[in-house]
Amino acid sequence: MSWIREKSLNWLQLLCVKVIRSGGVPKHVAFIMDGNRRYAEKNKVEKIEGHTKGFDKLAETLQWCLDLGIPEVTVYAFSIENFKRSTDEVNALLELARQKFQRLLSERDKLMEHGVCVRVIGNLALLPEDIRKLIAEAMFITKENNKAFLNVAFSYTARDEITNAVKSIVAGVERKVLLPSDISQELITNSLYTNNSPNPELVIRTSGEVRLSDFLLWQISCSCIYFTKVLWPEFTFWHMLAAVFYYQRCKEDLVDINRFEANVSAPSNCRIDTFLTELNAYRTAKSEEVGQVVA
Ligand code: FPP
Ligand code: MG
Repeated sequence: MSWIREKSLNWLQLLCVKVIRSGGVPKHVAFIMDGNRRYAEKNKVEKIEGHTKGFDKLAETLQWCLDLGIPEVTVYAFSIENFKRSTDEVNALLELARQKFQRLLSERDKLMEHGVCVRVIGNLALLPEDIRKLIAEAMFITKENNKAFLNVAFSYTARDEITNAVKSIVAGVERKVLLPSDISQELITNSLYTNNSPNPELVIRTSGEVRLSDFLLWQISCSCIYFTKVLWPEFTFWHMLAAVFYYQRCKEDLVDINRFEANVSAPSNCRIDTFLTELNAYRTAKSEEVGQVVA
């Protein structure tokens, strides 16, 4: 299935979209897409069939987010912990990713038409080189798009992300680009893979598990978290609306917390600006070098 689906809402769904949009929707939603293997077991099919259905549901959900006016989505597609699963399952998941990123590249025109910027966040060094190349190319060709943002957390855990940010900052201090007194919460935020994105306002986890599983731990400390029992491949438009409705009921409290956060942020200076510019340029160059992307 394609990453970009054609619109398929019926009149009742369109009416509900209109009503829910009038109550204010989050600008950024993150998904922990859990329950693919339980879906496979329930339907007596192979595990990979559950993951494939999970991808199809992702494509459908992205369209619902666009319909609802949600411009940014982050999805947990593959945790570093997932490498501990059986070799067969890991290989099948990597093969699914290979096929889907190839498909994404073949849909370049559609992505450009919809203005979708695709970013893959995670420890890409742990992935096979051919997949890294596909990812680098997808990010490169869509990097100027700014109507919608899709962040795919692949080979990702939050603790790995934070560790890498801290290592980069320590290296900056050792090279004397930064002073120890420049280290602040804001500097760490801006050194994460997600430095280009606002924090998700709503996180949705399916399958009834009530935990965060090392997903965006730094970024979602003040977010609204919605847990639902439905298995990811069975997630529907109505579950999506229920989650946004839940967000609407808790968003007033979120605004207050975020206002407090804004007041305690540290001032920037030219050392910090230089460090962050260099860090971003280094990461971009490294990814493009791996992908041998041709402009
Ligand atoms: C969690 O269900 C899901 C995953 C580990 C993989 C999610 C991947 C996709 C939905 C496909 C996305 C692919 C791309 C290329 C973006 P689980 O395996 O933990 O199932 P369980 O909780 O029932 O055991
Ligand atoms: Mg699971």
